[in-house]
Amino acid sequence: MKIDASFVKSAAGARDLPRDALARIALVGRSNVGKSSLINALVRRRLARTSAAPGLTRLANWYRVSREREKPFYLVDLPGYGYAKGGPSSSREFEKLTASVFGEGQHRQTHRALSALLIVDARHPGLESDRAAWEWMQETVAASGIVATKIDKLARGRRIRAIEEIESVFRHPVAAVSAATGEGLNELWKLIARLTKHE
Ligand code: GTP
Ligand code: MG
Repeated sequence: MKIDASFVKSAAGARDLPRDALARIALVGRSNVGKSSLINALVRRRLARTSAAPGLTRLANWYRVSREREKPFYLVDLPGYGYAKGGPSSSREFEKLTASVFGEGQHRQTHRALSALLIVDARHPGLESDRAAWEWMQETVAASGIVATKIDKLARGRRIRAIEEIESVFRHPVAAVSAATGEGLNELWKLIARLTKHE
């Protein structure tokens, strides 16, 4: 299957975000959870920079992605939360993120063309900061999904239990993936297709 992906821009704030009407999917998650790696795994190229040290992605990085003959959309790689000292998941951190994706002063509105994927670590169900991020997403975006990544780090026998636990915390289905092995990426593409069609 053919996938086209290109870097569009880095945005520190509200100015010069793409103005077209293409769907946008923001990746939301703790620093170091594997958001940038997941983008690379999805598009099968090293587009986004990744690092073993948390806090690498500091701006909202916009990528334009299209798959076969489907309509293109934007994947937005966001800086992770929970890295800055002074408390993970403070609403200030989320508001800063919101501003970098939608523009300042609009964070109370729901953004119809925008959906978000919450990326959590399959090994750490129900972290406080992830739950706060999920709540923020419910108030902010039109459609959302949950992805549990680094599933390769769990022994096979523990995976189903781990996913069930995450699903019960968020009361929402979870797609289990690994950017390292590529497991679950087909399911994730299906989820992405559903999110981009939600208009
Ligand atoms: P920030 O930009 O700091 O918010 O981090 P991020 O969420 O973009 O994480 P990043 O993709 O940079 O990955 C962090 C570390 O986790 C890197 O060392 C990756 O190689 C590793 N990693 C990411 N995804 C996986 C995975 O699915 N499996 C394994 N084993 N390691 C992974
Ligand atoms: Mg990153």
